[in-house]
Amino acid sequence: MLYENESFQLNPEKMPKHVAIIMDGNGRWATKRGLPRKAGHKAGAEALERIIYAAKELGLEHLTVYAFSTENWKRSAEEVGAIMDLLRFYLKNYFKKFVKDNIRMHVIGEKSRLDTDIQKAIAEIEDLSREKNGMTVHVALNYGGRDELRRAVTKIARETADGMLSPDAITEDTISDALDTAGTPDPELMIRTSGEERISNFLLWQIAYSEFFFSDTLWPDFDKKELERAIYYYQNRERRFGGRLK
Ligand code: IPE
Ligand code: IPE
Ligand code: MG
Repeated sequence: MLYENESFQLNPEKMPKHVAIIMDGNGRWATKRGLPRKAGHKAGAEALERIIYAAKELGLEHLTVYAFSTENWKRSAEEVGAIMDLLRFYLKNYFKKFVKDNIRMHVIGEKSRLDTDIQKAIAEIEDLSREKNGMTVHVALNYGGRDELRRAVTKIARETADGMLSPDAITEDTISDALDTAGTPDPELMIRTSGEERISNFLLWQIAYSEFFFSDTLWPDFDKKELERAIYYYQNRERRFGGRLK
């Protein structure tokens, strides 16, 4: 690896609170090895477990990962089925282990399109998570940024129609609070793996001022060192939020 001998001295005072990751490249990882795509998704799930613990060690408060988009249903039934089976397995096994380790698990996205046993397992994990106070991992499942905004608009429109909210009283916070990520600070850092440089409908509202880090590493190969590299670059950037340079 190119960066093998590089070491990244992270500044504990400038740690991001929230990192979001587009975990991309599972299929290419498998194809490169002559394996079926589902083997890439399995290796990707193992990478996620590794990165959850790495993020916890680094002291992040929130980690949001893109696991399945509203557009991913377009893939073959075989691939979608393999991803859902993997999800089932992880929900019932690993996610419970994460919660035991004081990690809060939270799912964002439109859950009603998921199989009912998966919805039940999600509800159970989120319930168990409520008594935990460690890092929160938000897993985006059947998630699309536009779909999330659409659902938020419906929610707000209903409140105005019911006379609970005046249209003139709608603020940016009203919108933030109607999203799946309500109560979570916006991600300071957004990482995408696999060399693709696009957002693919992830967290459209929340990334208004996020810093972006694109890694050529395929997701199943992503490790703590690469996460540290991303945070290091983030810490060495100047965030201006539209203001003047000092
Ligand atoms: C990301 O890896 C995982 C999901 C989208 C579910 P991909 O499956 O998109 O892998 P590539 O991009 O085809 O390599
Ligand atoms: C984004 O990756 C979705 C996830 C990582 C879950 P995709 O592989 O689906 O995105 P595109 O099709 O390359 O934009
Ligand atoms: Mg992809």
